[in-house]
Amino acid sequence: IQMKLIRTKNYQEMSKEAARFINKRVHANPALTLGLATGGTPIQTYENLAKDYQQNETSYQQITTFNLDEYIGLPETDPNSYHFYMQKHLFSKINIPNEQTFIPNGQSDNLAEECIAYEDLIKKHGGIDLQILGLGHNGHIGFNEPGTSFEQRTHIVKLAESTINANARFFDTMQEVPKKAITMGISTIMESKEILLLVTGKEKYNALTKLLHGEIDPSFPASILNEHNNLTVIATEDAIISN
Ligand code: GLP
Repeated sequence: IQMKLIRTKNYQEMSKEAARFINKRVHANPALTLGLATGGTPIQTYENLAKDYQQNETSYQQITTFNLDEYIGLPETDPNSYHFYMQKHLFSKINIPNEQTFIPNGQSDNLAEECIAYEDLIKKHGGIDLQILGLGHNGHIGFNEPGTSFEQRTHIVKLAESTINANARFFDTMQEVPKKAITMGISTIMESKEILLLVTGKEKYNALTKLLHGEIDPSFPASILNEHNNLTVIATEDAIISN
């Protein structure tokens, strides 16, 4: 199975392509079930979707969204929570009804139940039509860190040391950096009908190279995407070619 790889000049162009891609899917299916990612990579894609909403009136009234993951222990009002991120970068700027946006609840006092409930909700909505993904430096997708079984569904994870360190820049002290998260599993992600992976910057070159040319192995979770039958990768050229 061959993925589609779209090469773009830079972050701006990647973000334009990505927004165009998502827009097309929303126009084709106004009741799209859209899987969302956080992190730095999709921020400008979301900005472009918001712009398009204002200019061309693409309506998001009927779509439903499911986010990949959320930290455990951060309140929704914490600027580092993914709840906060989604409100800030997308939900507050488009006309999607709040009750159609789902993000795992990392504040639940029964996290095991929350995982099952999240899976049920996705099923109830007929599965995810289009899942947007970013790529972790160590190949994580969502918060599925290296070593995660490809069979996992939504579950609780301990974050890898490298991920905790990568996140540290957003917090004042190491103590505040979350050590755990709730994430869709690899199985959940692979069941999406279509996947759009966004990769930007030369610091992702090694990870993207492993994805494109490496073995399919749980030590590099994103490698499983090679087995998806409807995967598009939009990457910047410095992530594709080393210089
Ligand atoms: C984070 C998120 C992922 C994201 C990845 C890459 O930890 N949980 O969903 O794709 O790491 O982040 P960035 O886009 O900032 O490089």
